[in-house]
Amino acid sequence: MGLTYSSYLKLDELLSLQRPVSDGPEHDETLFIVIHQVYELWFKEILHEIDYLKRLLAQNDAPRSLHTLKRVLTILKVVVAQIDVLETMTPLEFLSFRERLESGSGFQSFQFRELEFVLGATNPEALNRYPVASESRRRLGRRLADPPLWDAFLHFLAGVGCSVPSDQLTRDVTKPVVAAPALQPILVDLYRRDPTMASLCERLVDLDEGFQEWRYRHVKMVQRTIGTKHGTGGSEGAAYLMTTLNKPFFPDLWAIRTEL
Ligand code: HEM
Repeated sequence: MGLTYSSYLKLDELLSLQRPVSDGPEHDETLFIVIHQVYELWFKEILHEIDYLKRLLAQNDAPRSLHTLKRVLTILKVVVAQIDVLETMTPLEFLSFRERLESGSGFQSFQFRELEFVLGATNPEALNRYPVASESRRRLGRRLADPPLWDAFLHFLAGVGCSVPSDQLTRDVTKPVVAAPALQPILVDLYRRDPTMASLCERLVDLDEGFQEWRYRHVKMVQRTIGTKHGTGGSEGAAYLMTTLNKPFFPDLWAIRTEL
């Protein structure tokens, strides 16, 4: 037999990858594993699309950039909505297998850190959480050296004739993106005179807001499931997660709202 649905999608391998560690096993652990695996697949797809988006921006292709951003935003909606599914698991159901997770935590998701890096929230110290010479550490190292989406966007704007301040075009891309007051009047002007560029900026704000929405929904899920207990990853749990809220990836796009 040639290619089939199962062989193409590697279903035998895929469906053998959900392996509970609890005794019994506990009923809810299957949902917990499936949802995290689905998240990692969506993270993979979002990274794939953002890398493509960066290439499209480098080619000055605004229409296809907008189209790709729309896809990423649609995935992000699904990813946020998935939290509803996990919230059907009660605190007691989670406690039935939580101890067996040992120190495993979403905190260790290297693809999530890659997403943060490509969106401009770089943090070289995050590499130290992964073993030297591991694939996850190598991947993060590569991401750190790679200009984030915001830099690709600024180069795109410069390429279409915007007077982006030169220090923004030559900044150290391994450093996190921070607000650049000198850039803001240029963005305000762009909003007023170029609807396509303004749409691109708005889609980036959607992306930023969508990610913040996920963080908010995740911390609420954590509060209702484990209260103020510490996380399996060793942090203070919800208290730590609260410190990650309201930190935009593209601060200039938020700052200009007051001036528009
Ligand atoms: C019952 C469900 C969940 C609970 C109780 C929970 C709990 C936590 C806690 C307490 C932390 C803080 C780090 C730590 O000390 O462990 C954390 C971080 C994290 N979790 Fe969850 N989580 C849950 C579901 C998920 C799901 C479904 C995902 C999807 C991938 C996820 C992804 C993450 C990520 C990426 C972080 C790091 C966030 C950051 O550092 O900004 N979590 N989680």
